[in-house]
Amino acid sequence: MAEGQELLLREDMKRVVARLHEEQTHVEPYRDDYRRLLDNHGKMIRAAMVILFARACRPTREPVDERVITGAAAIEMLHLATLVHDDVLDDAPIRRKQPTVHTIRGNKAAIYLGDLILSRYMEIMAEIAPNTDFIREQAGTVCEIVGGELYQESGRHHTDITVDYYDKTISGKTAALFRLACLTGIRLACLRPGQAMEETARTFGGNLGMAFQIIDDINDFDLDKDTGKPKLEDIRDGIYTLPVLLGLKRDKDFRAVIESDSPKDVLDYLQGHPELAEESRQTARDYLGRAAQAMEDSPVNRDVRTLLDELVQALTSQV
Ligand code: FPP
Ligand code: MG
Repeated sequence: MAEGQELLLREDMKRVVARLHEEQTHVEPYRDDYRRLLDNHGKMIRAAMVILFARACRPTREPVDERVITGAAAIEMLHLATLVHDDVLDDAPIRRKQPTVHTIRGNKAAIYLGDLILSRYMEIMAEIAPNTDFIREQAGTVCEIVGGELYQESGRHHTDITVDYYDKTISGKTAALFRLACLTGIRLACLRPGQAMEETARTFGGNLGMAFQIIDDINDFDLDKDTGKPKLEDIRDGIYTLPVLLGLKRDKDFRAVIESDSPKDVLDYLQGHPELAEESRQTARDYLGRAAQAMEDSPVNRDVRTLLDELVQALTSQV
């Protein structure tokens, strides 16, 4: 049964890719850049969340409604817009194994292109919104994402920030979008989702998102793992992520290493203290465990639950 749902998901995701490919901009000088950005999608995990939660309330062998596909594509566009801006802010040369748009077109054009993708996301969501609460939720989540980034900015180069502060940062910049993706699925497909379905979407999405960012942050120090992005970016930018914060909490001498402003020395320290990465991995596993737990006794239909459980297991095996 779940294999049937997996095939359906694969078909739905092909439609999301096609929907993204249809997107065009009226701004002729940037048509190719816009096209390249939308076609160079990643694994589209957030779009898959929209589809799976749309399928969560209605066990069906039918393809999902076009509105759901459009909503999933729009969620990917919001994600992409944030990445285009993020790469300017982080001055990152590579994303998804390709040169970033600001390295080709300059920072100003890249910011405008990010704005353009963000505006289209808003326009598309307004077109498919079932009600004004839907729009409010989308807009509120964009505020949360920007808020998370501002927390990160305010904590930059501060060796006294806490793990709680880091949690607040990643809850805004990453987990909020995962949660929104799950909620978007139920809002677009479930007639009356009910409290339990809504709570499942929130808890599953939020915890998966927290784990996802922690794993991303650990990978930034793992030179052997090919992520299609440069390494040691966070520490170079003065962004202290979980392994570093755990080190700062344990060893007051680590502060001097951080303040020496040498990413290589920080890497050497972390390699000499593997328990810091291990504890960070365990924290990610705990969040994944909470995501899986949210599925137990939830109203999510059994086949979709199996796929979501498999996704959690796949991520857990990578941590
Ligand atoms: C990646 O983080 C970035 C985010 C999760 C969010 C970025 C959000 C903004 C820049 C807010 C403003 C943008 C819009 C369009 C509202 P990372 O740098 O830790 O991960 P990375 O390694 O993938 O770069
Ligand atoms: Mg970045």
